[in-house]
Order: sequence, then C-alpha cells, then structure tokens
Amino acid sequence: MKKKAFITGINGQDGSYLAEYLIEKDYEVYGIVRRNSVAENQENRIDHLIGKGVETSYGDLTDISSLEKMIRTIKPDEIYNIAAQSHVRISFDIPQYTVQTNALGIVNILEAWRNNCPTARFYQASSSEMFGRSVDDDGFQRETTKMEPTSPYGCTKVFGYNMVKHYRHAYNLFACNGILFNHESPRRGSNFVTNKVVKSAVQIKKGLKKELPLGNLEAYRDWGHSKDYVRAMHMIVNHTHADDFVCATGVTNSVRDMCDYVFKKLDMNYKDYVTIDKRFFRAEELKYLKGDSTKLRNTLDWKPEYTFEELMDDMINHWLKIYE
Ligand code: NAP
Ligand code: GDD
Repeated sequence: MKKKAFITGINGQDGSYLAEYLIEKDYEVYGIVRRNSVAENQENRIDHLIGKGVETSYGDLTDISSLEKMIRTIKPDEIYNIAAQSHVRISFDIPQYTVQTNALGIVNILEAWRNNCPTARFYQASSSEMFGRSVDDDGFQRETTKMEPTSPYGCTKVFGYNMVKHYRHAYNLFACNGILFNHESPRRGSNFVTNKVVKSAVQIKKGLKKELPLGNLEAYRDWGHSKDYVRAMHMIVNHTHADDFVCATGVTNSVRDMCDYVFKKLDMNYKDYVTIDKRFFRAEELKYLKGDSTKLRNTLDWKPEYTFEELMDDMINHWLKIYE
C-alpha cells in the first residue's frame, strides 16, 4: 500500500517541492489550500501535480474543522506542517495574524492529529529565526544554541517548536522539528531578499527596471536550496525516533555579497543600481546566521547538493528564461 502524506502549505515554496519529492517516492499526497479571490493563485505552484498524485481541499491552519476533517478521512502516515505566515518583516506589520497562524495554528493541527490519527509521524517547520541574536562562541548556531528571537515571527516559531517537543514527551507521539536555515529557489516569493535581488537584477539587465531598493545589506544568512531541504524533512520524519535537527549549509554570506555575485554574473556592478530604502529595515534585525548541521549529517547522512553559487545560478537562469 502507498504511504500517505498530508502537507499544510502545499502551495508554498517548500510544500510544492516536498509534494514533488514524495510523489517520486510513490506517496499519495494530500494538502490544504487557502481560498484566494484569484482562483489561479490557489494552486499555482502545484498545478502540474494535481491529479498526478496530489489531491487538495480548502483548509486553513486557523480553522481546526478543516484540519480535523482531512486528518480523519485521509489517515496519513506522515503530517508535514509547513504552512505559516513566513515573512519575517511582515510579521512586524501583522503580529496578531502571525500568532494566530503560526502559534495557535500549530495547536490546532497538533490537536487534530492527536485526536484523529496519533499513529502518524509529525514534522514541524521550525526556523533558524528562533536563535535570533544568539550565536555560539565559534560563530555557529546549532540544536543546543539558546533561542532569543528578534521578531514576532521568530517568537511564534519558538512557541511551535516547544509545543512539538511537549507533544512528543507528554503523549509519546512521533513529533519532530526541522530547524531549517534560509533556503531559496526559483519558487521563492519575490519579496524575500534572494528572489527580489535576482528578479530585479535580470529586469535591470533587460532594461525593464532602473534601480533596486533594499534594506540592510550587512545581514548575513546561510542560504541553501529548498530542494535539498525538503529531502532533509523526509529523512527527519523517517528516522528511527522523533528528534530535532538543524539543517544548514554551514556557509554564510551577506546580502551585499549576494548582490555582488548576482550582478557580476549578469556583467553589472550592483553599486550602480542598489539604493537603500528604510521601508525594508526591521524594528529589530537578526544580523547573523550560520548553521551547524553536524547532527543531521552524521545521523541521517544528509548533505546539500547545491552550493550558494549554484543556487543563485538556478534562480538567475529561471528569471532569464522568463524575460527572454
Ligand atoms: P511560503 O512559500 O511562504 O509558503 C507558506 C505556505 O503556507 C503557503 O502555501 C501559504 O498559503 C500557507 N499558509 C499561510 N498561512 C496559512 C494559513 N493560515 N493556513 C493554511 N496555510 C497557510 O514559505 P516556505 O518558504 O515554503 O516555508 C515553509 C515553512 O518553513 C514555513 O513554515 C516557514 O516559516 C518555514 N521556514 C522557511 C524557511 C525558508 O528559508 N524558506 C526557513 C525556516 C523555516 P498561500 O499560498 O495561500 O499564501
Ligand atoms: N525581504 C527583504 N527585502 N529582506 C531584505 C531586504 C529587502 O528588500 N533588504 C535587506 N534584506 C535583509 C533582511 O533584513 C534580512 O536580514 C535578510 O535580507 C533576509 O531577509 P528575507 O529574505 O526576508 O529572509 P529572512 O531571513 O528574514 O527569513 C527567511 O528565513 C527564515 C530562516 O532564517 C524566511 O524564509 C523565514 O520564513 C525563515 O524562517
């Protein structure tokens, strides 16, 4: 019998790659999508998978009835809670909504799981944003690093992370956290910095745009490829026991470094086009992220296939094709 997976956030960047990955592994994949007034946007990242192993229903993390119904009828083997209000800067603008989705939402899905299909394995999309201003002496963040979040988003993710551990211990359930560092792809929302920079640089190259307004260029991030990270999610869920793992490349670059690489690739100098716009700064900035994923690499034999440069090249080629 085929294994069944239930994914919240299936139409997001990670959800769509995860669905593809699980179909390749011969899973039946189910997901919830939110109602959108532009019907085409509801499933735009997974259109190619509908009817080919993926089935969707309307649902929302804030609507426990939709979660209960899905879990009760599907009886999944694996549940991936990938959905979230995932934009850190926007979480300062809509803190209550961010809490409703990312914090109360996780309680909803944990309860729907515990009461309807507790034998399923549960994955929570935790985040390096939970570490916030805390960095170990060697410059890395790892599973043992103190959590000091610097955004409403980060606070909700710490809550979710702790609830998942609580359900593991209190009810003896298979509940695990993947603590993922930044991961990108051509499917990344274009208001996250990598895709914003790459898309705008290509538009500038093609004469469609004149400048690129950005916020803090001195922030460092450990950027990997979403395809590598969804592989890690599946490995974590299929481990012998429930546990928490950091997933990261171990390489960090600043936003400035990233601009330099992308514009150079297109035979331009970022200094001629990038401007600084206060609207893109945050009330409190998370300045530095570099992850140590030794535990994941040693325990589950995970390693990333994409380097930072290959990731950027993949995104550049994507936008070049679109604007050609
Ligand atoms: P994303 O592209 O923004 O996708 C988020 C998905 O969640 C979308 O499908 C969105 O639906 C859905 N969603 C939002 N609010 C919802 C709600 N109330 N009910 C149901 N669905 C809802 O994010 P991503 O980059 O794939 O990230 C996936 C998860 O990993 C998120 O939980 C994020 O916080 C976490 N994470 C991401 C990274 C990263 O670097 N990408 C790193 C660490 C952790 P719509 O399509 O309708 O908006
Ligand atoms: N979005 C954005 N837009 N960020 C900018 C800009 C800009 O114009 N200019 C500079 N930045 C800086 C931000 O201040 C931040 O330091 C860095 O670029 C990365 O920003 P984002 O790409 O928005 O990602 P993030 O690191 O805040 O959050 C992502 O990674 C987290 C894991 O660490 C999201 O995917 C989160 O969901 C995820 O948990």
